[in-house]
Amino acid sequence: MQVHTILEENMISIVSNKSLTKSCWKIAELGCSSEPNSLMSISNILNIINKTSLKLNNGISPVFQIYLNDLFENDFNTIFKLLPDFYQQKKGENVEECFIGATPGNFYGRLFSNNYIDFFHSSYSLHWLSQGLVEEAKLDLFNLPVYHPTIEEVKQVIEAEASFTLQTLNTFKIGCDANLQDDIVDYVEDSKMRGEFIAKYHRAVYEPLLIAGFGENIMDELFSRFAKLIAQLIEIETLEFTNIVLFMTKNP
Ligand SMILES: C[S@@+](CC[C@H](N)C(=O)[O-])C[C@H]1O[C@@H](n2cnc3c(N)ncnc32)[C@H](O)[C@@H]1O
Repeated sequence: MQVHTILEENMISIVSNKSLTKSCWKIAELGCSSEPNSLMSISNILNIINKTSLKLNNGISPVFQIYLNDLFENDFNTIFKLLPDFYQQKKGENVEECFIGATPGNFYGRLFSNNYIDFFHSSYSLHWLSQGLVEEAKLDLFNLPVYHPTIEEVKQVIEAEASFTLQTLNTFKIGCDANLQDDIVDYVEDSKMRGEFIAKYHRAVYEPLLIAGFGENIMDELFSRFAKLIAQLIEIETLEFTNIVLFMTKNP
């Protein structure tokens, strides 16, 4: 099941419950980065809410206030430069009023006042553990501040923390080089190219952390060896990520 479908099914029930009393939806995107992906997710969310509200409210379009969150160091300017195009073309045909701003800060701390946001969305961001942990771990040895939990662990944490009710949990798998196949027309399978592609995007994500632990000099060699190992592995194994898609509502 695609993330869009999961989002759509869950959003429709939320919008149906709230729509009659809501004229302005406040939506936060946690870990927006500076890439266009986050704006794509926002466009999906706006269109789902808009479509459902139009049906329920006799054609009256809601207004959207969007808050883009990422760490203070994030390059928000790059994403702001995409906004004119987004407002004109990409937000969706029937979405009327939509205002986008930024809320920089760490999502492990407080970003908004109580009960202010109607809907939080976050993609590929919550597996990053807090920065504090990184500093502490550096004292002893290199520690990658990423945690990939099992489904059971996710459920247990949500239940134990008790602020949210888990409405749905879905998982789906995606090939580690799925984007490579999408990007190249007439793609011919080539293990070396796949290994280099996978190594490159791991480098984009992990290089700053590895440099902090081991210095810059070994980076080219490290990722060239990594690409070769991936190229060998991909011939004998299907390399996939498992993604967990959660939909939760806040408890009263
Ligand atoms: C892999 S990117 C995901 C970008 C985008 N959401 C997507 O799905 O393509 C993860 C983003 O989460 C941000 N991030 C990680 N930890 C964070 C935290 N504690 N508070 C706010 N943002 C954080 C990172 O700075 C980074 O931009």
